[in-house]
Amino acid sequence: MSATRPSGTGAVIALRFDGSRLWALDQTLLPWREQELELRGASEVAAAIKRLAIRGAPLIGVAAAYGVALELAGDPQPRAALERACAELRVARPTAVNLARAVDRVRAAAEAAGVGEESAAALAQAREIHCEETAASEAMAAHGADLLAGARTLLTHCNTGALAAPGRGTALAVVAELADRGRLDGVLACEARPLLQGARLTVFELARLGIAHELVVDAAAPGLIAGGGIDAVIVGCDRVAANGDVANKVGSYPLALAARAGGIPFVVTGPTSTIDLGCGSGAEITIEERDADEVRSAAGAPHTLPGTRCRNPAFDVTPAALVTALVTERGVAQPVGAESILALLR
Ligand code: MRU
Repeated sequence: MSATRPSGTGAVIALRFDGSRLWALDQTLLPWREQELELRGASEVAAAIKRLAIRGAPLIGVAAAYGVALELAGDPQPRAALERACAELRVARPTAVNLARAVDRVRAAAEAAGVGEESAAALAQAREIHCEETAASEAMAAHGADLLAGARTLLTHCNTGALAAPGRGTALAVVAELADRGRLDGVLACEARPLLQGARLTVFELARLGIAHELVVDAAAPGLIAGGGIDAVIVGCDRVAANGDVANKVGSYPLALAARAGGIPFVVTGPTSTIDLGCGSGAEITIEERDADEVRSAAGAPHTLPGTRCRNPAFDVTPAALVTALVTERGVAQPVGAESILALLR
């Protein structure tokens, strides 16, 4: 089932639970059509996450948490439903640790509940994760805007706004906060091939927010940074290893190299739910490899020979040494490394 919402103005609500039903804006249709999907169980949520109708590290965690709760609701065998839902949702995408972490939290809450209480416990936990991520977004916006108080022109990659995380997002929440404080001249948004989250989603959000922006192809960004006039690069993250290495949308690593060469900060923004102390370094992070058809086409239109062999890593890893600062809801790690990350989590 789906419902078309009025377009043009107002806050972007990527995901909402109306008390009994979960609704998600289908991000594969943006920016052309704003249409919500109703998600009725774990399989539907997992499918929406896999095809990127729901995306962004914190948002897929929250969606999966509700997905587990939905699966339990009304099931006469909640323990079996829990097993089924967690197994399916936990592996819907491999890189963002928020997904597995949220599923594990809901599972633990349901398992700890008394007989007959599992479903209510799962839903309460999903709501709690949703609230926490919403609050984290506001805190990150404030910390990041304080850190980048002197920056007037920023460059960003992929989509890290309200479509990627509850609240105002991660990196784009910082951008929005700087704009609210009257400090920003504008933003350069990389298009983020192959699925164009920058061109389709970040431009959509920046236009909604009334923030001045220009779209650039990914390959133009390093040269523009070298040319001057960009004060900082700001991106989100899908998993931060214990040593501070950062997995984020493919194309982030070249931006970090260009930022270092150009002498400007490369700032990563994400909630602490994205930090994975179980991963010692970026080398241990599983990088999702997606379907080759995504590379063979752009916005649905084929642009190479059918059957051309492709590589399609959805993420890359930026070494901690290239990350100027990690902005979280608990504050800023700078320099970024094992010690500063542990201090954040303490
Ligand atoms: O493949 P996507 O669109 O889910 O990738 C999203 C990103 O890489 C974001 O930068 C990341 O999730 C952090 S922002 C919330």
